[in-house]
Amino acid sequence: TRPILISPSILSADFARLGEEVRAIDAAGCDWVHIDVMDGHFVPNITIGPAVVKALRPHSAKPFDVHLMISPVDQYLDAFAQAGADIITVHPEAGPHIHRSIQHIKSLGVQAGVVLNPGTPAKMLDYLIDDVDLILVMSVNPGFGGQSFIMNQLRKIEAIRKMIDKSGRDIRLQVDGGIDLTTAPMAIAAGADVLVAGTATFRGGPDAYADNIRKLRGG
Ligand code: DX5
Ligand code: ZN
Repeated sequence: TRPILISPSILSADFARLGEEVRAIDAAGCDWVHIDVMDGHFVPNITIGPAVVKALRPHSAKPFDVHLMISPVDQYLDAFAQAGADIITVHPEAGPHIHRSIQHIKSLGVQAGVVLNPGTPAKMLDYLIDDVDLILVMSVNPGFGGQSFIMNQLRKIEAIRKMIDKSGRDIRLQVDGGIDLTTAPMAIAAGADVLVAGTATFRGGPDAYADNIRKLRGG
């Protein structure tokens, strides 16, 4: 059985104390730190940019998993890499050349991931799977935390798990949106190995983070 990694989305953290929040989830045993970047154009919400990623970098040595929901995206890849991203994920809908964006991310020495929106089929991966380090299945429409898990995405996770195993490549399969103690086991059973969780990590405040993360992992 593959290890399950937890990547808390800091979208649900206290934005006035972001550095402390990142230190708290690190101490609470998270595996990665999920950073949701939104531009008010590709998605309705606006969040944070490379300056904030850079400011957070000294607060944790854990991988920064930077989910870009911005369009156009290519012109910002260098800035996020320089700010300290370890993994950058991009949506095919966010630029004209997803294959080129993936190559660009890898050329920066950063792990590259592709994100599939709920309406985007697994087929999109046919000619990307040879190059990506991670595939992210959105189980909500991107833009906001606290939404409900879209159940039919489990079928997509199962299909992609088969594609990854068949490829023989070392690719993480991440799920993002509406992950809680009910949906986490479903996503894991379908084949996911990295769970993003905002609401379910940060609920209850700092004293609860370690318990929340452990339970999400299934421990
Ligand atoms: C949505 C973001 C998610 C979101 C998850 O666009 O990509 O990372 O913050 O939040 P929860 O876990 O609350 O659904
Ligand atoms: Zn995200």
